[in-house]
Amino acid sequence: MSQFHSVKIRDLRQETPDSVSIAFDVPESLQSKFSFVAGQHVIVRRMIDGEDVRRTYSFCSAPTDGDFRIAIRKVEGGAFSSFANEDLKIGDMIEIFEPMGEFTLPIDAARKTHHIGFAVGSGITPIMSMIRDVLSREPLSHFHLYYGNRDADHTIFAEAIAALKNTYMERFSYQLFMSRQAVDIEFFNGRITGEKAAVLHANIFSRLDVSGYYLCGPISMIDDVRTQLLAAGEAEDKIHSELFYADGEADEARVSKPEAIAKSRVKIISDGREIVVDYRDEDGTILDAVLKAGIDVSFACKGGVCATCRARVMFGEADMVLNYGLEPEEIADGFILTCQSVPTSKEVTISFDE
Ligand SMILES: Cc1cc2nc3c(=O)[nH]c(=O)nc-3n(C[C@H](O)[C@H](O)[C@H](O)COP(=O)(O)OP(=O)(O)OC[C@H]3O[C@@H](n4cnc5c(N)ncnc54)[C@H](O)[C@@H]3O)c2cc1C
Ligand code: FES
Repeated sequence: MSQFHSVKIRDLRQETPDSVSIAFDVPESLQSKFSFVAGQHVIVRRMIDGEDVRRTYSFCSAPTDGDFRIAIRKVEGGAFSSFANEDLKIGDMIEIFEPMGEFTLPIDAARKTHHIGFAVGSGITPIMSMIRDVLSREPLSHFHLYYGNRDADHTIFAEAIAALKNTYMERFSYQLFMSRQAVDIEFFNGRITGEKAAVLHANIFSRLDVSGYYLCGPISMIDDVRTQLLAAGEAEDKIHSELFYADGEADEARVSKPEAIAKSRVKIISDGREIVVDYRDEDGTILDAVLKAGIDVSFACKGGVCATCRARVMFGEADMVLNYGLEPEEIADGFILTCQSVPTSKEVTISFDE
């Protein structure tokens, strides 16, 4: 079974006043377990004030850099991001889970294509890994970045992005949008919106052979840009997105009100073992009931976003209250987010091994 590994903090860099990047010292014996694809993330775990706090952070380094580095922006009042920005030091030990995630850009060294990235704030992290990887390992391809921030001071990796532009003049382009600092060209003033994405599509993307759009940031940006790209005729499977946090009210497509039943016999398959949990509606979600029964399964955000708690319904029925983490095809295949699901039949079998 994949597991947490204790690693040392090798380097810690202040990227902006409210963000740090952190490099792990991954020992030789673990290097293969930690090989990752650009866009993937790790779960980081630490006991903070007696609580087992787990959060997901994307790699900002490229897989072949030999640097296992993540970047963390401080969220006001945030348990882990405050700890990482204020207390973590070089030499400290921290637990990390092996890399995972479907928001990836696999490299094809022979192709000649264009990749487009839209990032807002800390959403630059996985996109940065993709940019570095494409520029170094897809020698004929181009990457075009559209990156939104409040101002220049809070733009994570501003210098690294400018340096990449100097090295890869022909194959890398980037545009910065500022919401609280005036910039010379009116178009780049304010947030990245669907309207702006439509203009970019009509004038630039439609003339290029684009193989993928990669969106990472707040849900409003992701939804608006995706809607406009689809309206412009782009195929759904070319648009990839990663959400870090679900702000605001969830729209109807993401919410449902399943009728949990009072008691259910829930058979859990995990690591090839079968364990029966007697679910009671006061247990809360299936994940809560599983953890209460002492079964060790993966989870992180508990907010329906990261999909770490994904499992498949093999028999019976279970339904989700909220879903930001699964694609429609995964739901059609019987997958659920166990942190958001309740059993809706008297017997259910759920596999974490699928
Ligand atoms: C797949 C994935 C990859 C991620 N990668 C990164 C990354 O590379 N860099 C990074 O900085 N973060 C990343 N995140 C977000 C990260 O996992 C945490 O959610 C974030 O750091 C906040 O954790 P916290 O413990 O500090 O805040 P919490 O204690 O969990 O929350 C404190 C308060 O802040 C709100 N909140 C939580 N998260 C956010 C947010 N992102 N923005 C605004 N308000 C928030 C909560 O609702 C709560 O009110 C990623 C999330 C996912 C799901
Ligand atoms: S733990 Fe993140 S979606 Fe369930």
